[in-house]
Amino acid sequence: MEYSDYLKSAEFVRERIPDTPETGLILGSALGTFADEIEDPVVIDYKDIPGFLVSTAPGHAGKLIYGTVEGKKVLCMSGRFHTYEGYDFEQLVIPVRLFRLLGVKRLILTNAAGAVNTDYRPGDIMIVKDHIKLSGSSPLRGRNIEEFGPRFFDTTRMYTPELRETAKACAVHTSLRIHEGVYMFFTGPQFETPAEIRAARILGADAVGMSTVTEALTAAHCGLPVLALSVMTNMAAGILDKPLTTEEVNEVGRVIAEDFSGYVKEIIKAM
Ligand code: HPA
Repeated sequence: MEYSDYLKSAEFVRERIPDTPETGLILGSALGTFADEIEDPVVIDYKDIPGFLVSTAPGHAGKLIYGTVEGKKVLCMSGRFHTYEGYDFEQLVIPVRLFRLLGVKRLILTNAAGAVNTDYRPGDIMIVKDHIKLSGSSPLRGRNIEEFGPRFFDTTRMYTPELRETAKACAVHTSLRIHEGVYMFFTGPQFETPAEIRAARILGADAVGMSTVTEALTAAHCGLPVLALSVMTNMAAGILDKPLTTEEVNEVGRVIAEDFSGYVKEIIKAM
């Protein structure tokens, strides 16, 4: 896409929402229920937005929702895009750049993840402080669009320290266990092998998942602060003597949905 194509997508959305959103949200698998918390929602189907992508992953609604949460203006993607759906990394910049052009000041990313750190338990939350991505390319590969950011860019503050502090301070308002750790990206769609999980642990990962890093990198490129929250839906492969299933992932997502929504609301309120 050219810069002018991004402007067209943004224009389409801007004409349909009443105000400039402050916080952008991208909701992960099995965590889409947060969208129900949005008041006075204006809902736009991804398929209607020029130049946008279409969501194919199960449990991903494919809707952009504008509204308020705790009196704050939010724009929320219920349903995100993953490379395992067949998208190229370079296509995965589109949603975050749309948020940027619509004027959001920060991005909250949520995801379901497997716990690598054996002190973590299913249902725990990890505030992402950094990531490891050894597989795949970069979403910023290819011709650089200077309007969004420079060719080479910093990632040391990608998971923005001030937002992580806010999220940590909000831990007092929830019964969920809140950790801070490193997220390691795997392309999926297969869950990792036990050997990959052992390797991830040696490399310093606390959790593994199939999303978030492309969005965080795109945000870092265009100067958008990011808070990423991982829900531990399962212990990663090989830790427990049982196979991993999507049912398990979804079930834990369902069980903590209300508490997790409450925690995210507290964070939005505090921002
Ligand atoms: N691995 C990768 N992605 C995931 C997992 C996992 O164990 N659980 C939920 N998303």
